[in-house]
Amino acid sequence: MKLAVLSRAPQAYSTQRLRAAALQRGHHVKVLNTLKFAIDLTADEPDLHFRGKPLSDYDAILPRIGSSITYFGTAVVRQFEQMDVYTPNTANGISSARDKLRASQILSRHNIAMPATAFVRNRADVRPAIERVGGAPVVIKLLEGTQGIGVILAPQVKVAEAIIETLHSTKQNVLIQKFISESRGRDIRALVVGDRVVAAMRRVAAGDEFRSNVHRGGSVEAVQLDPVYEQAAVRSAQIMGLRVAGVDMLEGDDGPLVMEVNSSPGLQGIEQATKLDVAGAIIDYIANQVAFPEIDVRQRLTVSTGYGVAELLVHNAAELVGKTLGESGLWERDITVLTLHRGVSVIPNPRKHVVLEADDRLLCFGKLDEMRSMIPERRRRRAKVRRLPKEALS
Ligand SMILES: Nc1ncnc2c1ncn2[C@@H]1O[C@H](COP(=O)(O)OP(=O)(O)O)[C@@H](O)[C@H]1O
Ligand SMILES: [Mg+2]
Repeated sequence: MKLAVLSRAPQAYSTQRLRAAALQRGHHVKVLNTLKFAIDLTADEPDLHFRGKPLSDYDAILPRIGSSITYFGTAVVRQFEQMDVYTPNTANGISSARDKLRASQILSRHNIAMPATAFVRNRADVRPAIERVGGAPVVIKLLEGTQGIGVILAPQVKVAEAIIETLHSTKQNVLIQKFISESRGRDIRALVVGDRVVAAMRRVAAGDEFRSNVHRGGSVEAVQLDPVYEQAAVRSAQIMGLRVAGVDMLEGDDGPLVMEVNSSPGLQGIEQATKLDVAGAIIDYIANQVAFPEIDVRQRLTVSTGYGVAELLVHNAAELVGKTLGESGLWERDITVLTLHRGVSVIPNPRKHVVLEADDRLLCFGKLDEMRSMIPERRRRRAKVRRLPKEALS
């Protein structure tokens, strides 16, 4: 394949390793500086220029977009997506992952355990939010920090309030997060490629520092991950739309708590700690997937007027429970079931003989008018019920 690594750091360890791994496997590879692209929307088809010249054809890109150029970088990645060039990480995935709040919002609806988090703006809401996540000591985070910069542990509620108010007064948005004391100074980094964890390490903070980032002096060691941790990491990356990701998890008393999903994980620490060829695994995965450029399903499927995608819930009272998909009458109503979600398992392309159970969720494409009547009010009611106990507690 012909691969472009989008990076502004051709000499960096990760870039060098990716380039070497691609060459070693007989691929054609170029490291292209993300900022030297020009997005061209003047012709009939989306196009790109590089250093002033039309870009030649690539089969795949591997974006390594630094946080200082997220906007331009993701615009370039999105342009490649429009040109049907394969990318393991989508522009959407990269921008969602970069914003800690946005990432938590997306993950929180998919049963991914995370440290309790709150986001407020009003001064009067600060103290209740701190109490809701469990009181002091409490973690305060800038939305777009990296390398541990912008992560503070406030020992007392009063101090936390003062810090948050100060940051708010300088127009900084901050997350308020429960301090997971049992994982103090330690966390797990799992490197996800496709649907598996290819390498994992534990990071341990230096001295009395609570942040375990390598840039803050943390040290690393290889770990054999428990399957629960692997599953949390893989699901988090997939939900974010990232096929190459570094998923950071705290080791909570009840298992993994996902902290963040990094779209350009560094390879040096993890390769040295585990002695594994992570770069090679990434290149092999991309070569395998090249034939499947990202398709924005919503964009492509909703262009036919009156048709769209909806999630139908099979609820107890419905006449669907116990029937097979074939007997459900969905197909006759011009509704195609794309996936069936049952608990945490997913049945892709479910067949006619699959028997529907209560609480199955069907991701469907079809006539909106036909599906409208089948979207129960349940979703809204359930959300309310779920929130009640929390409100009662605070
Ligand atoms: N809620 C928390 N409880 C305990 N430790 C935390 C918590 N949040 C972050 N940390 C520590 O701080 C480090 C940096 O936090 P993180 O959210 O990953 O920010 P960054 O993006 O700057 O790396 C983590 O690796 C972890 O060691
Ligand atoms: Mg981190």
